[in-house]
Order: sequence, then structure tokens, then C-alpha cells
Amino acid sequence: MNTKNKELFLKNINDYFGKYADRYIELMNESVRSAFFLNEKKASRDEIFELIDFKYEGSSLTNKSFYYLDNSIGKSKAYELGLIYPQDIESSLPTTFIDTDNIRMAIDLCAAPGGKSINILNRLNDDVLYIANDINYKRALILKNNLERLGLDAIVTSNKIEYYRDNFKGLFDLVILDVPCSGEGMIRKYPEILDEYSDENIDALSYKQEILLDEAYELLNEGGKLLYSTCTYAYKEDEDQIIKFLNKHQDMKLIELPKLDNINKLNGTIKLSPLNDTEGQFMALLIKDGHPSIKEYKYYKQIKNDLVKKFIKDNLIIDDYYLYNIKDDYYLSLKPLIKIDYNILNYGIYLGQIKNNRFEPAHNLYRSNSLKGKYKYVYELNLKEYDDFISGKELKISDDDNYYLLTYKNHSLGFGKLSKGILKNKYPKGLRRVV
Ligand SMILES: C[S@@+](CC[C@H](N)C(=O)[O-])C[C@H]1O[C@@H](n2cnc3c(N)ncnc32)[C@H](O)[C@@H]1O
Repeated sequence: MNTKNKELFLKNINDYFGKYADRYIELMNESVRSAFFLNEKKASRDEIFELIDFKYEGSSLTNKSFYYLDNSIGKSKAYELGLIYPQDIESSLPTTFIDTDNIRMAIDLCAAPGGKSINILNRLNDDVLYIANDINYKRALILKNNLERLGLDAIVTSNKIEYYRDNFKGLFDLVILDVPCSGEGMIRKYPEILDEYSDENIDALSYKQEILLDEAYELLNEGGKLLYSTCTYAYKEDEDQIIKFLNKHQDMKLIELPKLDNINKLNGTIKLSPLNDTEGQFMALLIKDGHPSIKEYKYYKQIKNDLVKKFIKDNLIIDDYYLYNIKDDYYLSLKPLIKIDYNILNYGIYLGQIKNNRFEPAHNLYRSNSLKGKYKYVYELNLKEYDDFISGKELKISDDDNYYLLTYKNHSLGFGKLSKGILKNKYPKGLRRVV
């Protein structure tokens, strides 16, 4: 470990934590507690707990997340079925303070791997138009997969924020900005963060965050809310950043958050740390003056494709929907979608592809919560069939030839194609595991 960086970190901790610094340093040697978030968009709390087979414990900060006490979570059915999302308590907290009334359009600008989007999508109405963006394409792919696993529909993109600033000014009722930061609050969990730790790095990140905040501001509708968060303690990235922002943008005000800590120096914001039995997280919620106005935006052009329409008619019970394509990929949405020009990874619900004049449905289509109850052919797996399916095996089922949604305890898992009594396994190879 880099001793010079560690010394700087300890010096800064003394500055941030004052009389609590010794306690903080003691807590640095205690083990980190990991947690999971309940995806109540997919199932009720009781249904979720029925499928949790590992030990867990509640948190005094939230009733939507729980600490887990062993590491088998990734192999649990609750995880595979998208009923839970592994996420530490402190990161699941910021969105809980957002009043979701009057939100019609929302964007998460730095969304990967998806925690905050998952939290807020759990609370937003299904008719909200939601964009989850991350500039890093590989991370945006993980974001897309996480949203898909939880069955949460969103437009997923990998664009620069400038793109949105230049094309969608003033459009959003909610902007989430969970910025890249120096990560002081994660050093207990990932000590290697210290390798990059320096005053220069904090300055560079603070400068970058200031630009991102100014771009985020441009996206806000009147009355729009901006959630800013970091996982660091540095004033330049946290309180001072917000003070500078408020001075620059006089039409922005802080929404006062409950007092949960004794270390932050800007009233109304929250700075969590191991003193709260969490890792570090700073959060500030801001609102722009004025009354929200309904803004016009360009809709994506719908397409008509007989092959895809026939597939929908044969397999789904829906009348009103919007159909889109990006080259050979087809997407369905239950609401009209905004036109985004490029770098789209998902556009509502990914339906599938046309290959050799045949339509091949996709896994995403069979995971979406908004299509719950709308599949014509559903097959409920027993425990043995669940294990076989998740391992990639074919199943023997006597029923009519069709594509089937496969459920376990009524929760969608994936799909297969039944032909002459053999169900071809369509569970994505990357998700399979040997049971
Ligand atoms: C703290 S992480 C976000 C975590 C995420 N909000 C969550 O809750 O899971 C910061 C993210 O910002 C992304 N990022 C960095 N610079 C960006 C930029 N200019 N525009 C958009 N995303 C950016 C990074 O790729 C990284 O995924």
C-alpha cells in the first residue's frame, strides 16, 4: 500500500471527522457489511422473502434494503429471478428522498451498474419516460443487463452528457447525477482506491463534477429535481461543490434532507460513513424554481413489420403498443419513446431480431415486469426443472408447440421454445450455472 497516500488520507479524515476521527479510524478495521435491495416492482415483500435462503438482517436507515450475512446471494433464486439487487445500504438511500409526484421524464446520467436507477424505477410510475445513461460502454452493458434481470424497462444509452444537454435542454423533471469521485468512503471496502489517492486527483475530480453539475442543470425542467451524490468525504467534491453550484445557479434551492450525521458542514445534505454502519455517501437534493411545464419532444418513428406484429399477436395479450427498430433489432414499448440518435443499448423492451426472415425473440421480452400477465403461453417450472433450466438443459414437456414464458413461483425466469415435447433452452449462456 502506498504509505504517502495513506498518510494523506488519514490527515484528511482528521479534517473531515474532527472529534469522531479516532472512532472512524477504529471502524476502518471492522469488516464491511454488504446488503441487497428488494425489487418490489417484480414481487411483493412476502414473495421475495419466501425465496431468500441466506441469512439477512435489517437496517435502521431503510426498510427496502437488508444486510446479508453470507455470500451465497449471487446463486440464490431470489437473485436469479430478479427479486433482489446486491447494493450497499448507503447507495440505496439517496433516491428514497425524492418525491416522485409530477415526474414525467427522468434521466440518470452516470447510471452504471444501475443501483440508483433500480431504486428510483421501483418508485416511479410505469408511464414515466426514463433514460439510464453511462459514458462507459462496457459499464452501460452491465447496466442494461442488471435492469433486464430486474425486469425494469428503461432506455439505456452510452452517450456523453453534452449530447443530452445540446438536444434535451429543460426536459427532465428528475436528473440523477451520481458522479465519479475520489471514493474515500469506499476505501474500507476497496483499499486499492488509495493507490490513486492524491490532492491533485481530488482537484481534478472536483473540476469534472462541476462541469457535470452544470450540464445536469441545463437538463432540468422548471420545478425539476436534481439528486447529486458521491461516495467520498472531500468538501471540494461534496459540500463546497454544492455551495458553488447554488451560488452559480440562483434558481436552484436545496431540499432539506433529514439529519442523519454529525460530520457534514452543509445543512440539509447527508454524509453517511461507517459511523452510520455504512460506507461513505454524500447526497444533496436540489430543486429548480418554477412550475413544471409539459415539454414537447421528438418521438422516435414507429415502424410496421408484419413478421414482428404477428409474433406479438400470437404470443402476447396486448393491443396498444409502440414498435421500434434499430437496424435488425426490434423493441416494444407501452408508451411513446423519445428520439435518441445513437449509442442506444436498450429501447424499452428488447423484443428480438429478424434472422433469415424469421423472428427470434429475446430474453428481455420474457423478463419485463410491465408485460406481467400478458403472455399467452406460460409454463410453471418445478424445482428440478428450475435447476435443469438454469444449467442450460433441455426440458421434456408435453404441451403444444410454442414459445413459453417459464416461471418459478409465478416469477418470470426466461423462455424456451417447445417443439415435439422438447423445450429448447433459451436462457442466456452467460447467466447459466451448474447446479
Ligand atoms: C459512481 S458510478 C455510478 C454508480 C451508479 N449510479 C449506481 O448507483 O450503480 C459513476 C459512473 O459515472 C460514469 N461516468 C464518468 N464520467 C461520465 C460522464 N462524463 N458522463 C456519463 N457518465 C460518466 C462512470 O462510467 C461510472 O459508471
